[in-house]
Amino acid sequence: MKKLIIFLTLTGMMGAMPVASQASPEDDLKAWRSYFKTRFPDVKFDEFSNGLYALPGAEDRRAEWEEIMEFPPYELELEEGKKFWDANKLGTCFKNGGRGIAHKYPYWNGKQVRTIELDINACLKKKGKKPIKNLKKGKMAQVVAYMKSMSRGKRVKVDLSSAGAKAAYEKGKQFYWARRGQLNFSCAHCHVDKPGQFIGGNILSAGLGHGVGFPAYRSKWGGLGTLHRRYGGCNKQVRAKPLKPQSETYRALELYETYMASDLPLTAPSQRF
Ligand code: HEC
Repeated sequence: MKKLIIFLTLTGMMGAMPVASQASPEDDLKAWRSYFKTRFPDVKFDEFSNGLYALPGAEDRRAEWEEIMEFPPYELELEEGKKFWDANKLGTCFKNGGRGIAHKYPYWNGKQVRTIELDINACLKKKGKKPIKNLKKGKMAQVVAYMKSMSRGKRVKVDLSSAGAKAAYEKGKQFYWARRGQLNFSCAHCHVDKPGQFIGGNILSAGLGHGVGFPAYRSKWGGLGTLHRRYGGCNKQVRAKPLKPQSETYRALELYETYMASDLPLTAPSQRF
């Protein structure tokens, strides 16, 4: 923890990418991409879907990762997810049996931001089954991983055409750029300002590409975890209270981050340190 605090004190104010509060999502996306392109001219766009492994300076980690991925550590859990999916006939609740649609999540349904997690639990409820309680790991992470695996390689395409979706996007964006916690850091301080730098033995990923690899298997977790579990961990890192997984704010944040990952291929499930 001491290391982390020194790091945070040294980095000071963030000034690299001014974010205009009035900008349209399209303008945000343009500025975002051009920022990361300038910052990492040698990293190909699609590579950002591989998190920190995409970045210069992470070559050792990447080599290790490529070795790990020859026998991905999440295979058994993915199989569990498929079993649960099949046993509960979850495909009947989704368009095309749930195949090739995960890249369009999250979406606005006229009332709220819908994530795969929410739709899976709604499906279970519809079938008179118990919704899955733990939204961070275990069954839910496994089923989401399975559903996303049926859309692997599809390019992120979220729909922000409705006023409701735009409002949720703005909310997520605000959360992303706002300072919080005892350390007074925003998401952008680490993932926009400092990608590629070490923090407490970890290399920071670029904000571009966030979400497309989740659920992810982390050795630290000893299993698959959902994106909102990761959000909770990042909030805790700055000593802010994590929000509940699938809370309205985390879903808005997911919408914002996913829109900013537009056109990147889904790589979930993935492995991360
Ligand atoms: C103090 C620095 C710090 C802050 C602030 C921070 N994170 Fe992180 N975040 C990390 C570290 C360290 C990791 C693990 C290494 C990596 O992948 O970046 C991580 C990983 C992630 C990942 C996984 C990326 C991937 O593909 O593996 C996501 C998504 C993420 N953070 C989102 C956020 C969001 C959203 C916020 C704001 C609520 C945030 N982070 C704030 C340090 C931070």
